[in-house]
This record gives sequence, structure tokens and C-alpha cells, in this order.
Amino acid sequence: MADSSPAGRPRFKVDADVPHSARVWNYWLGGKDNYPVDRAAGDDWVALNPGIVTMAQQSRQFLIRVVRFLAAEAGVRQFLDIGTGLPTMQNTHEVAQAVAPDARVVYVDNDPLVLAHARALLVNTTPEGVTTYLDADLHDPESIIDGARNVLNFTKPIAVMFMGVLGHVAEFGELRSIVDRLTAAVPSGSYLALWDDTDAGEAKRRASESYAETGAVAYHLRTPEDLERIFDGWELVEPGLVPVTRWRPNLAEVGTVQEIDAHGGVARKP
Ligand SMILES: C[S@@+](CC[C@H](N)C(=O)[O-])C[C@H]1O[C@@H](n2cnc3c(N)ncnc32)[C@H](O)[C@@H]1O
Repeated sequence: MADSSPAGRPRFKVDADVPHSARVWNYWLGGKDNYPVDRAAGDDWVALNPGIVTMAQQSRQFLIRVVRFLAAEAGVRQFLDIGTGLPTMQNTHEVAQAVAPDARVVYVDNDPLVLAHARALLVNTTPEGVTTYLDADLHDPESIIDGARNVLNFTKPIAVMFMGVLGHVAEFGELRSIVDRLTAAVPSGSYLALWDDTDAGEAKRRASESYAETGAVAYHLRTPEDLERIFDGWELVEPGLVPVTRWRPNLAEVGTVQEIDAHGGVARKP
């Protein structure tokens, strides 16, 4: 499957025989950038855990509220969005630059289809801002930091975002190490924002196991307590780590949105 990038680094072509998280996610969000194998894996998950579709939609709303908060209230102008996904409605740079046209956004993903779409779509940006894309694996935080330095100033606050991606790291210790190494590179006043799906019983566990059996990169469900530990040493912004629908919801939506198991939060580096 591998070919070579101009730099001679091995690259992988789009694989339409095995489900990919970005494409399954796109399917659940109602997008068209997915293959039969992704739709089949997505349908299997839904059969065991129907709430996943609402989760995909509501986690995107969480991302939008978080980025708006970071740009408008916290004054952040630099964003490092790791595990970007395929472009959808209201991507990070669009939300940030609507508030602060000079916002600089670096997207990171390791999926070749995301890369292909990102080149075409995500580079549209405000004249004052910058939006760019890094083809990198979150298991290699140092190469992410090196690549992001071309666009982001690591002496000024940066929002480091892991939106629905940390479940792809198998070991919790490794996950902590990845987050710690990435956030050690950003200064005081920076922010860490994340959400992740959480272990909420047998049906969800079976859905996740059956997804892994397709040959896709597994998604490991964690407890809210585990996710909260990732913020150790950080100042959690109100209301803390909560189901994503409860994180600073739009007032018009309170009581109208089905609560979901995914948890998310935002914290400031002291
Ligand atoms: C569930 S989607 C979430 C997309 C988006 N962040 C959102 O919240 O809508 C997970 C994304 O993480 C990416 N991803 C998975 N493993 C990765 C890795 N090792 N390094 C970088 N990105 C990864 C996938 O390609 C996919 O785009």
C-alpha cells in the first residue's frame, strides 16, 4: 500500500477495504466522503449503540462552542487541532477566524483521505489568518511540534485540541505521555481541550469490540475519571469535565438535546 512522498517518506494510499475512523465519522455526520466498508462498520456500531449518531453530531457542536469560547472569551489566537477529521460544517478555523480573523490554525491527522480533502478545503482562510495541515501521527508528538513551529509561535498561548481522537491510543499511560509531551511545549496561558467517548456499559463495549474486529484502528472507551486525570495540574474551566451537551450549552437548546455519554472539557495551563 505504501508509496513515497516527495520527501521520500513512506505514505499510504487510501484503503477502501478497511474502515477508517475519519470516514465512518463522516458517515455518521451525514457526509459523502466514505466507502461501503465504512458505512457497513458504521451501521454495525449503530445497531449495537444507536446513540453514536447523536454523539457525532453533538460532539461537533461541543467543538464549535469550545473554539468560540477560546477565541472570544479566552483570547486564544493559535490552535493545534489534532485528529481533525474530514472537513465538515464549521471547522475549527472557520469558527476561530469568524471571531478573530488573525487566528492561526494547524490541523493534524494521519488519514490520507483527510489529507486530500484538507489540501483542497481547509486552506481557505482569512487574509489575516493562517490555516494549514500537518500529515502526522499523534503517537509522535515531537514531529507535530516541529511541524507546527512553522506556523505557531510557541512562546504565545496555544489551544491544543484532542477532539474524539485519544480513544485511538491503546494504552492510557501512552495517552498521558502524548498529551504531556505536546502540552509541555506550550506556555502558561495555553489551553487543553478534549472530548472522548466514554465507557457506558455492555452495548457500547460490544460496539467498540466489533468495530476493532473489522481491522480498523480500535477505539478504546475510557471512564470519565480517566479523562479527568488527563487534566491533572491544569485549571479546568467551568463547568469542568462533563457530558459534551452540558458544556456551556446554547441557552436555546437547554433541555432539548438528548444527553450523551461522551465527556469533554477545557483547561488553562497555569
Ligand atoms: C472520531 S474522528 C474525530 C474528528 C474530529 N476531531 C471531530 O471531533 O469531529 C477521529 C479522527 O482522528 C484521526 N486519527 C486517528 N488516529 C490518529 C493518529 N494516530 N494520528 C492522527 N490522527 C489520528 C482520524 O483520522 C480521524 O480523523
